[in-house]
Amino acid sequence: MQEIFDAEFAANPWPVLDRLRREGGVHRVRTPDGPPAWLVTRYHDVRVGLLDDRLVTDIRTAGPTDYRGFAVPPPLDALLVTAHADHARLRRLVTGELSPRRRTEWAELAPALVESLLRDIDSDAEVDLVERLAVPLPAAVLGELLGLGGGEQEALAAWANSTLLTCAALPRARDTLATMRAIITSAIEHARAERADTMLGRVVAAHDDTGSPSEQELAGLLFYLLFVWYEVLADLISGSILALLNNPDQLPVLHSAADKQPAVEELLRYLSPQVLAGPRFATTDLRFGDYTIRAGQTVLLCLAGANHDPRVVTRPRELDLTRKRNPHLGLGYGLHSCLGTALVRTITAATLDAVFARWPGTALSVPHRDILWRSGFRHRGPLMLPVKLG
Ligand code: HEM
Repeated sequence: MQEIFDAEFAANPWPVLDRLRREGGVHRVRTPDGPPAWLVTRYHDVRVGLLDDRLVTDIRTAGPTDYRGFAVPPPLDALLVTAHADHARLRRLVTGELSPRRRTEWAELAPALVESLLRDIDSDAEVDLVERLAVPLPAAVLGELLGLGGGEQEALAAWANSTLLTCAALPRARDTLATMRAIITSAIEHARAERADTMLGRVVAAHDDTGSPSEQELAGLLFYLLFVWYEVLADLISGSILALLNNPDQLPVLHSAADKQPAVEELLRYLSPQVLAGPRFATTDLRFGDYTIRAGQTVLLCLAGANHDPRVVTRPRELDLTRKRNPHLGLGYGLHSCLGTALVRTITAATLDAVFARWPGTALSVPHRDILWRSGFRHRGPLMLPVKLG
């Protein structure tokens, strides 16, 4: 059993992942919570795993010994306890709302949204861009996406401040869950009362008119959209700024690119902020290379390991915004792949553009080695980004 998930892994997982890939690619590891799981690190295996319908996310399939993921109480767990057909139905409910068709809309919205946050930052000061930009940004994005009222958006931002910033006391799970529930309930009530023509209003109306999503699914869906992907968006934004500060030769490439998408894809690959796909549980005994995974055991498909696999990516540790072939798995793949893809790409491009156009001489105000990283093992991002803007 390997014990790899420590603070060093969060800051720099690459040497460990290189070794695990070399040593067979599939390993039994201990998760920080204690229970074991299989960790899959080679690109080919991870991709196959993401497509394998014998590996499911439904927690009711999990056996008694292995890692089961974060304990989320009902009704917030609705998406973690859904059978295949229900999961597909829930995805369909939000696919249109999040689809690439909306990219044009977001391409117009995103710069103004980012600008509204940057305007309040004092250019002369030393600032922490995690606190001032990366953590507040997802609240603004999700508020806009779902059509949250001002009160809920503020409550979401306050939740993020109190749980995601270094200076914040460690989140107490029960308080956090109560806050999440309160925000979800209030958002649903408002959307219903106002019959709002927003994404949230439409999902609530679908529930009221057709019963799909059910009451429990509605809460679970909002939990997923508002809280599960919040932190990883913050991680991607702050990680991307840090990566560019550490690779200043890439800034002209970013500036001159008419289409910023390849640059964002490369940042998603290079950083792999979502280190692991959500836990998958084996419905039956199955073979993974030389290893047998037993029914009920947990498989952690390591997106970061796949994205740095030298069999697929040349010079994986290099940030190359001009990379042509980049079949990364940073946003997942297959039936559970990210539904926020179009949004994530547009927001990231707009944010990087705005920050480096406004302050081209920005530099870290502490040595890179002093940057602390979130020690959660399923996703990673800098906990602080102290910079001198210029
Ligand atoms: C506002 C932003 C985002 C929204 C609304 C969003 C939405 C979603 C949703 C709804 C799913 C679940 C699909 C399912 O269970 O069927 C998903 C999956 C996923 N998202 Fe996002 N996402 C966002 C940001 C991000 C970011 C920044 C990343 C960073 C890399 C990311 C990476 C992923 C990955 C890897 C999966 C697949 C997980 C798996 O296979 O277990 N998402 N996203």
